[in-house]
Amino acid sequence: MQQGQNRITQLFNIQYPIIQGGMIWHSGWRLASAVSNCGGLGLIGAGSMYPDILRENIKKCKQATDKPFGVNVPMLYPNIDEVIQIILEEGVKIVFTSAGNPKTYTETLQKEGLKVAHVVSSTKFAIKCEEAGVDAIVAEGFEAGGHNGRDETTTFCLIPNVKKHISKPLIAAGGIALGSQMKAAMILGADGVQIGSRFAATAEASAHENWKQKITQLQEGDTHLTLKELAPVRMVKNKFFNELEDIYITGRNKELLIASLGRARAKKGMFEGDMEEGELEIGQVSALIDEVLPVDKVFSNLLEEFRNTGNPVL
Ligand SMILES: Cc1cc2nc3c(=O)[nH]c(=O)nc-3n(C[C@H](O)[C@H](O)[C@H](O)COP(=O)(O)O)c2cc1C
Repeated sequence: MQQGQNRITQLFNIQYPIIQGGMIWHSGWRLASAVSNCGGLGLIGAGSMYPDILRENIKKCKQATDKPFGVNVPMLYPNIDEVIQIILEEGVKIVFTSAGNPKTYTETLQKEGLKVAHVVSSTKFAIKCEEAGVDAIVAEGFEAGGHNGRDETTTFCLIPNVKKHISKPLIAAGGIALGSQMKAAMILGADGVQIGSRFAATAEASAHENWKQKITQLQEGDTHLTLKELAPVRMVKNKFFNELEDIYITGRNKELLIASLGRARAKKGMFEGDMEEGELEIGQVSALIDEVLPVDKVFSNLLEEFRNTGNPVL
């Protein structure tokens, strides 16, 4: 193995084991190609894209980088068969599936020569991924932004446990925005990291400027994991969040929750910039993000912090 190379960099043919998580309303071709051009792995987030928009983003990403990039396919959204078809037609080489069963598409994609990683939030599901034959597993802790598991297992507890039970390459996600956190995750047993929130507040992310600025102002305790009955999601405690809380107080009516949700709320908040009525997904680590930066600066910070974080001795 070359110096600096490990199972993740070799699997995806990248320079650094840093993956930019697929993020609805953030990770279009601009963000994904910028991350790949820095030596990480950029992922286009298919979750918020109609099929024709996804195809356009893949085409533009191919023009913007000659480095490997992938597509994230959250299986909780509609049109997934069509999305998979487009990925195959466009010759994408890497897919990260999430929010669904790892068995559903892994074999189909691997038969066509693609590498497949799947995102989980528990050791139990990590074992299922291994059984499904994925090429890598993303284990995402409770701190993470976006959709998450119900069990509230933090990255610090999840990674060593997953590591103990699986042999596939392991990517840690949730609560990583600094090089020191990346190093800690790798000391715990991860071969690489998947970062969402830090890349959400970058110049290249396709989210609304209001939202990017809001991320830089968030403090500890400003986010909460809610909607466990439907699809658990970590979001900012704004007016929309309080409306959901009111529904809980008046009796956890699932139909009412569904009615006030819908994809439109996420778009309204993160893409259209309505900081009160919209759903604002972000991780706990937002408390450590105080500047919107270009992707190359995020990268150089991560690498510098990683290298300069000392090795404590006892
Ligand atoms: C705004 C936002 C949107 C997200 N959308 C998706 C998504 O569409 N698919 C997915 O698999 N994960 C999604 N995630 C999770 C990220 O891919 C990543 O795993 C997570 O953000 C890592 O934790 P961090 O936010 O602490 O860095 C999203 C996260 C955020 C912050």
